[in-house]
Amino acid sequence: MLRESRQALALSPGEIYCDCTLGGAGHALAIAEDLAPDGLLIGIDQDASSLAEALLRISQTQLAIHYEILKGNFCDLDQLLLDARIVGVDGILFDLGVSSPQIDLPSRGFSYAQEAPLDMRMDPGTQTLTAAEIINSYNAADLTRILRNYGEERWASRIAARIVQSRASAPLETTTQLAALIKEAIPASQRREGGNPAKRSFQALRIAVNGELDALTRGLDAALRWLNPAGRLVVISYHSLEDRIVKRAFARAAQGCVCPPDQPVCTCNHHPILTTVSKKALLPTSEERESNPRSRSARLRFAVKADKTRREAWAGPEQLQR
Ligand SMILES: C[S@@+](CC[C@H](N)C(=O)[O-])C[C@H]1O[C@@H](n2cnc3c(N)ncnc32)[C@H](O)[C@@H]1O
Repeated sequence: MLRESRQALALSPGEIYCDCTLGGAGHALAIAEDLAPDGLLIGIDQDASSLAEALLRISQTQLAIHYEILKGNFCDLDQLLLDARIVGVDGILFDLGVSSPQIDLPSRGFSYAQEAPLDMRMDPGTQTLTAAEIINSYNAADLTRILRNYGEERWASRIAARIVQSRASAPLETTTQLAALIKEAIPASQRREGGNPAKRSFQALRIAVNGELDALTRGLDAALRWLNPAGRLVVISYHSLEDRIVKRAFARAAQGCVCPPDQPVCTCNHHPILTTVSKKALLPTSEERESNPRSRSARLRFAVKADKTRREAWAGPEQLQR
């Protein structure tokens, strides 16, 4: 949803754009064209190999912009931007989830189709929790909760029970072992719909390993603080739980007075931080869905920060250092 992101971010020459999920810099480089000359692209990713790829691509372009590449989790956006001595940002993009190169590289363990250790960490250099640890040590109730909540897996408890039974004789170590076991746990008559039967469980495990929903909540919170007055925020999500977090965060930030409706005088002093909020999520066009099947579940929401944001809402980065 590059065209839609670019339109919603509506960046101008000289502005500052922060891509919180740089990946291979596909979005970042196209959007950064709008910043030239003299704009600043800040690219963040927690995956060192994505950053190396992005850095190579950015350094090979002839764009007349400055850039700052930061390794880290966007849940630490406050600290990342403070350390980079940024004072405010005009546009922020989150394109959530994993990138195609991450899925396609078997050794990362994101794909049920390729034999690999059960890993799924986006930042293997820092994170310690792996999919193997979850699969081999969480109890049946926790496994069920993860598969049901994050994967919307109808057969979550059957899959969890099958995992617990299987690991009693030997730990589960590889993606294909787990995928075969998930298939066995789902009744044959129910396996025909919705693609590979392991798809939902693998997505659920990835979300749990990387703490993706918590990171998103914290990242959005920080993004709202760092946007300059009239700054634009775009989020592309791929999961209904992510989309719900975005929708609620935007609605909360766009809310005015939160006093009880029967209270005659406002005492809450609550003011909207966002003015414009997309009413409905934008979906990819049929052409995009056709040419890029991974875009099928994408939902884009955007918001614009009030152009006279009150100091109480955001007094600048020094507020964080107090
Ligand atoms: C869908 S890809 C982004 C692709 C990118 N828009 C492009 O055009 O190449 C998501 C990227 O965000 C990164 N990512 C996901 N969650 C993150 C987080 N919490 N903090 C930092 N990076 C994250 C992943 O490592 C991955 O490289």
